[in-house]
Amino acid sequence: MSKKSPVTAANWKMFKTPQESLSYVKELQIKILDIGQVDVILCVPFTSLFYISGFIEGEVVELGAQNMHWAQEGAYTGAISPGMLKASGAKWVILGHSERRHIFGETDEKIAKKMQSAIRAGLYPILCIGETISERKQGKTVEVLTRQLDLVLEVVAKKNLDQLMVAYEPVWAIGTGVNATPDQIKETHSDIRSLITSFVPLLEDRLRILYGGSVKPDNADELIRVDGVDGFLVGGASLDVDTFVRIIRAVEEYEMSGG
Ligand code: PGA
Repeated sequence: MSKKSPVTAANWKMFKTPQESLSYVKELQIKILDIGQVDVILCVPFTSLFYISGFIEGEVVELGAQNMHWAQEGAYTGAISPGMLKASGAKWVILGHSERRHIFGETDEKIAKKMQSAIRAGLYPILCIGETISERKQGKTVEVLTRQLDLVLEVVAKKNLDQLMVAYEPVWAIGTGVNATPDQIKETHSDIRSLITSFVPLLEDRLRILYGGSVKPDNADELIRVDGVDGFLVGGASLDVDTFVRIIRAVEEYEMSGG
């Protein structure tokens, strides 16, 4: 996986049994045999991770998890550690998804702790950040993103992380069918890039910022062309293989055309 190829990442959320995941992965790999310019990451439920990891072939598809605990081990009933994810075949882990922040009450402090232990375990984080609709309407988008990045970037700088993936996911665009407009995405990605690279200059060439929030085959073509978009984090539209493949193809075609 190159440090700067575009990415199409799937966030399956709480969908698919291990068996369903395996059929998906087998079908997907056949359908994208000709794809070479896009990194495809599948962030699957814990129960599917180990089950499918032995079936991943080649270099295009990689596996990720959607959350983890910050501790390496301990009395944390129901939790999964970074080491367990790594040993189950995950390379990536989504941290700070808005559903974790808003439904499960994850704070920036907890997310920073998770960032630290993910890096320690050799996992690469996909950090999700994004504002709610009322925050955007009040003109607080940059303030919110700065707050969400603050503690995490201290960790990233201290740990010398050389590869960071950030997903900008406006909360109001997740699962709603309403995606952010190209102008909103362009402006916000540029703000995020400057916030991060001014704090961690090492990431200048290696930072990939994905857009997430109602990405579909119908808008992927337009959104991948937006300045500063290095790929997508796709929820709902990643659950069906053919739909997801159409999004991967939109990214590949843009990259092939010199994007
Ligand atoms: P969506 O979800 O594509 O269904 O809007 C994106 C996400 O939550 O990562």
